Amino acid sequence: MIPSNRRDVLRAAAAVGTVALASAAPVARAAPRIAKPSPQVQPALGYAPDALAPAISAQTVDFHYNKHHKGYFANLAKLVAGTAMAAASLEDVVLATAGKPDQRALFNNAAQALNHNLYWQSLTPGGSAPMAALEAAITRDFGTRAALEAELAKAAMGQFGSGWAWLASDAGKLKVLATGNADTPLTMGMTPLLVIDVWEHAYYLDKQNRRADYVAAILPLLDWAGASARLTA
Ligand SMILES: [Fe+2]
Repeated sequence: MIPSNRRDVLRAAAAVGTVALASAAPVARAAPRIAKPSPQVQPALGYAPDALAPAISAQTVDFHYNKHHKGYFANLAKLVAGTAMAAASLEDVVLATAGKPDQRALFNNAAQALNHNLYWQSLTPGGSAPMAALEAAITRDFGTRAALEAELAKAAMGQFGSGWAWLASDAGKLKVLATGNADTPLTMGMTPLLVIDVWEHAYYLDKQNRRADYVAAILPLLDWAGASARLTA
């Protein structure tokens, strides 16, 4: 089979046990645009642990960032130790292992590490405004930012069990979608722009089972400027 895009190349390489990541494949039209591949190292929080309060308490940030998120990186490090995957970016590990039942643990931990990287980057104290290109895309695809936020909230509330609500770019078109567990629009050929974590660990200490309260509280903290940068990267 001739691989048709970067994801196929990575899957084919993984299947034969050789992940030629550095030389892999021209980025094809459908491949997600990755401005800067994420290393297998937990990024620092871009703000103080209490900077998102009261929407998200310092205690929740502490557990979420220092236990859950850090734990995915720790598990990932054990799983890739001594393998060709050890030097790969998180995106490449996710793309190479998605949909492979025998690599489920590797996919889950790499994808959860990557999804949480974007989650923390999707929030900023006080929120921010989109830049021109994203503002225009929002107007074109949703009408208003309020309408888009309503779609995000609906996706977050509609996700049964653990998962994520996303704003993603599908070849430039904005899409809102939800995924379960560790799944990400990256493996669907889209570029994730913003994400809301709807695993219970994201809100249970603050809101108990009231996911709607958590979602409503963090919508004003979304970093639309950061999403703008990802759209135009
Ligand atoms: Fe989480």
